[in-house]
Amino acid sequence: MIRVLVIGIGTGDPRQLTTEAVSAMNEVDLFLVANKGAARRDLAALRAELCRAVIAHDHYRVVEVPDPERDRAAGDYGSAVVDWHRARVRAYAAVITEHLGQAAEPTRTVGFLVWGDPAFYDSTIRVAQALQPGELRVVPGISSIQLLAARHCIVLNRIGGSVRLTTGRRLVREFDGTDTLVMLDGDLACQALVEEHPELEIFWGAQLGLPSESLVAGRLADVLPEIRRRRAELREQHGWVMDTYLLRTPE
Ligand SMILES: C[S@@+](CC[C@H](N)C(=O)[O-])C[C@H]1O[C@@H](n2cnc3c(N)ncnc32)[C@H](O)[C@@H]1O
Repeated sequence: MIRVLVIGIGTGDPRQLTTEAVSAMNEVDLFLVANKGAARRDLAALRAELCRAVIAHDHYRVVEVPDPERDRAAGDYGSAVVDWHRARVRAYAAVITEHLGQAAEPTRTVGFLVWGDPAFYDSTIRVAQALQPGELRVVPGISSIQLLAARHCIVLNRIGGSVRLTTGRRLVREFDGTDTLVMLDGDLACQALVEEHPELEIFWGAQLGLPSESLVAGRLADVLPEIRRRRAELREQHGWVMDTYLLRTPE
């Protein structure tokens, strides 16, 4: 039997690994790591380092699985993502069979190390379910949005209030003044809100949990140039930027 552990690992700082995550990592025979090309090589290397730091034995393997290309030219974003997930499932299933075989006994454990928490904008749980393992377990991790709140010493919601979680792709279309957390925004979509909502505040963080962490907070209209400058600097130095932010209307 194959069992699958989907383990949230936080955002790269080993101190963010929970003791539950460490103990789950020690149960894994085969870690599958998506190889997403040059920009994410740092992150794949970080995962391997975390394994070396916390696993107490040496009979585990880490295998990089080339991530299939998503069809970015496809008109229908939703079905392009579904096709991409199917291709991922096929790639993982092939690697599992190659490394662990198909025998029912003994039970072998496959581990996925998920950046942040598997519950936020991550398809690993869906992929793991599609693999139809004999057992599936999810271990939560510290998400970049929790880290954003901690670094800025804020509560994400106002007292009894709502917070929307969305992507850069949907932000402008859906923004209605509700406090909003934004992930997966390659191009600071919030720029388009400045004119109509000059009063908005932003709490922004990039590379949270990593040595190059960068934070900016203030009135969106005032601090946007500084955020743009820091994003460009990080991209120049590391080849990639991962950032997230909270937008809210001042009380
Ligand atoms: C595919 S989602 C994965 C989110 C992840 N599961 C989590 O819990 O943080 C990737 C997005 O998460 C955010 N993100 C992930 N790691 C980050 C970090 N270290 N600093 C800032 N934002 C991060 C960015 O918005 C990035 O575009």
